[in-house]
Amino acid sequence: MNDKQLESILHEERLFPPAAAFSSEARIDESRLAALHAEAEADHEAYWARMARELLTWDKDFTVTLDESEAPNYRWFTDGELNVSRQCLDVHLDERGDKTAIIFEGEGGDKRRLSYRELTADVCRFANAMKARGIEAGDRVVIYMPMVPEAVVAMQACARIGAIHSVVFGGFSANSLRDRIQDAGAKMVITADGGHRGGQIVELKEATDRAVEQGCDTIETVIVLRRADSGCQMQDGRDIWWADAIAGQSNQCAAVPLNAEHPLFLLYTSGSTGKPKGIQHSSAGYLLHAKLTNLWVFDLHEDDVFWCTADVGWITGHTYVAYGPLAAGATIVMYEGAPTYPDAGRFWSICQRHGVTIFYTAPTAIRALMKFGDEVPAQYDLSKLRLLGTVGEPINPEAWIWYHEVIGEERCPIVDTWWQTETGGIMISPLPGAMATKPGSCTRALPGIAVDIVDEAGDSVTEPNAGGYLVIRKPWPSMLRTIWGDNDRYIETYWERFQNRFYVAGDSTHRDADGYFWIMGRIDDVLNVSGHRLGTMEVESALVAHPSVVEAAVVGRPHEVKGEALFAYVVPRGDRPTGEAMEALTRELRNWVGEELGAIAKPDDIRFADNLPKTRSGKIMRRLLRAIARGEEITQDTSTLENPAILDQLSGKA
Ligand code: WTA
Repeated sequence: MNDKQLESILHEERLFPPAAAFSSEARIDESRLAALHAEAEADHEAYWARMARELLTWDKDFTVTLDESEAPNYRWFTDGELNVSRQCLDVHLDERGDKTAIIFEGEGGDKRRLSYRELTADVCRFANAMKARGIEAGDRVVIYMPMVPEAVVAMQACARIGAIHSVVFGGFSANSLRDRIQDAGAKMVITADGGHRGGQIVELKEATDRAVEQGCDTIETVIVLRRADSGCQMQDGRDIWWADAIAGQSNQCAAVPLNAEHPLFLLYTSGSTGKPKGIQHSSAGYLLHAKLTNLWVFDLHEDDVFWCTADVGWITGHTYVAYGPLAAGATIVMYEGAPTYPDAGRFWSICQRHGVTIFYTAPTAIRALMKFGDEVPAQYDLSKLRLLGTVGEPINPEAWIWYHEVIGEERCPIVDTWWQTETGGIMISPLPGAMATKPGSCTRALPGIAVDIVDEAGDSVTEPNAGGYLVIRKPWPSMLRTIWGDNDRYIETYWERFQNRFYVAGDSTHRDADGYFWIMGRIDDVLNVSGHRLGTMEVESALVAHPSVVEAAVVGRPHEVKGEALFAYVVPRGDRPTGEAMEALTRELRNWVGEELGAIAKPDDIRFADNLPKTRSGKIMRRLLRAIARGEEITQDTSTLENPAILDQLSGKA
């Protein structure tokens, strides 16, 4: 960004206060929230120390709350000890040992339930199996699995013995897996012969073999869960079936107390350069925030059935599948397959069948399911739902309203939660019993999370609706600790821009007159059109508000006069228009955006496509769209694309 401030041009006025019935039962209501904010503001460290003591069971209490001696490598609760797996499992056994921890549904319809007692026994057996294969505290273990309970068992087993897991999303290629194994120096891979997705078998073991054969010399053991009967090859001495590995292992395994700062996991995420970054998280600080946000943001009660649809390969699946809800003693749903298999009603049928009360998913999924029409969810009983959530990208108001009306039946509050792999847990979000929501806004920061907006000079932007860099002024317990093996990159990426004064999230945002945050997208998605700074997300949001548009992505291309011009990729409802119809729709959309946002935001180019290039987690690959908009040859790696064929259509070759 330059010295000009971001201009916000998105206006959304609707306000949805919480229903009295919801607030009166909620864990956090308006007055409790105000008290928590006041407490955190009065003494940041004391607030977090109190939370840490109240929400976690310490094997050894801490005397140091925050260690700033090596800032910006902050550390929390540094002389305390606990075990994350014990916090998620053993602590529940007396009170809720027979309570269901995991309700699992496979894509093919197979179902399984695991109580806290059964899950604990499975974790112990598997932890013993890992130890028998030489895994010790501090060793790195890569988990490359389908969304089955064993993925959580493997993560929890690592936590139990202090091994550092690095989960690699099952949709990633063998090459991505290899890079991550090498960067982490992993000793073991835990995988499956296959997983089920969209009616196909994802050949995880086959990809593991290809990865490990390409110079992953640190790998000693590959443990393989039999899931798909894909008839994979097993290599003598290296590979062992999950069932054989746990055979004869005890269902008891001591949860060793570990230092609060012991790394719990690495999770690789893409940065602005090609090489993925191994985001390193801690044990105690991470778990504290995972548990706290699960209780507060999702207003978790004892009898709730909580379903976060994210794969454990992403941070959302770490914090709101594998750790947060278990630490909170919740019943969770895990689903193996695709949201549209065998049809677009699958999510809603799962909600009905298992009595889901809290449902958390991504805007891209909401928009995709919205496309199939209201008749699909109308066929299911969604009356048990009481709270909905979204995460991962800005949700456009139209999708928000659809979610609210059609899925939430106007009864369920929506929590639009802003956070990142790096933040470990939710940072900005409504607390559903305490705050009114606005479609498209993630509202306010949680107590103890010092979010601010700064300009190019690093000064606070206080004027309403003026945009800037989203920064976090004070360290918080679940923050990333470093980038594995590259602390310089950690400092460069998140701190150096403003001389280590605050954490720089890499997003741009503005705050309205009520103090609500509106995320405008990543900094590099912000364009300068004729000296006006525009968040591409706002233009996209306007486009998708048009009845003929299902999805849109907007990027910049260089323009002689304006500096940058807006180039829009649009997925139309129904067939892709051609000829006259295409020209007419192009004109209509340009005018529409002009009406919604102002003439400045009218895209110069609109290209229609059946789909957009997405990563397997559903994020639009904007760098590819930018390359196409500029007429450049695509030289980047496209191996993580869900639908590579779409590139030809977008560049006008098909
Ligand atoms: C974006 C996912 C708007 C944002 C938990 C952030 C959001 C990036 C929201 C992190 C939201 C996430 N509204 N944008 N509610 N949540 N983002 O690391 O740009 O996969 O920086 O973590 O997603 O993505 P990540």
